[in-house]
Amino acid sequence: VGSGRCVVAVDGPSGSGKSTVSRRLAAALGAQYLDTGAMYRAVTWAALDSGIDPQDAEAVAKVAGELDLEIGTDPDDPFTRVGGSPVDREIRGPEVTGAVSAVAAVPWVRQLLVAQQRKIIGAAGRIVVEGRDIGTVVAPDADLKVYLTASADARARRRSAENAADLSATAADLDRRDRLDSTRAADPLQQAADAVVLDTTELGIDEVVTRLRAMLDRSRGGV
Ligand code: DC
Repeated sequence: VGSGRCVVAVDGPSGSGKSTVSRRLAAALGAQYLDTGAMYRAVTWAALDSGIDPQDAEAVAKVAGELDLEIGTDPDDPFTRVGGSPVDREIRGPEVTGAVSAVAAVPWVRQLLVAQQRKIIGAAGRIVVEGRDIGTVVAPDADLKVYLTASADARARRRSAENAADLSATAADLDRRDRLDSTRAADPLQQAADAVVLDTTELGIDEVVTRLRAMLDRSRGGV
């Protein structure tokens, strides 16, 4: 895959391997990488930081509208900054993880972040974008749409290992978040009709990245 424009959409539930696969693929393609989940997490962190109830859609929307959010798209050094300060650690903490689904369900927050995401994608040209609605809403004309899945068991095991957290609590939290993210009214987690589905339960990261590169090479005849 050469140096032309190339947008890859990677969607799927948490623990499906999206982040690792997306970063590795971006690095291999010499492309940029956008973690859209980090954007929803940053809004959530800012809301909690100002003492706002994440269920209060109006107050959350206001926070999102005023947020000075910066997102780094180098796959070797992705970062999230709010008001110029890094919040990478804070946005992965349990408080944000517990509240982010409520924030991501606010339609106006989604509109705002989707507009920012489209701008970043347009400016980058070559980019791997991970999230829940990339192939369906953010970049419906992506060159390749991937939907990653894995068994609930495998996803819970990966997440609890990452966070050094209790397995059954992690499984319960994942289940709750998946349910909220897939059943919300605004742009729920959904498989695009033209997405390639890969189950990563038994596949290593390298294998997934290799397969995706081969698909891109085939579909674009080497661009
Ligand atoms: O991928 P992640 O776990 O960091 O995402 C955090 C939350 O943000 C997730 O629970 C759903 C939401 N999200 C979303 O609604 N749309 C996206 N494109 C990305 C994430």
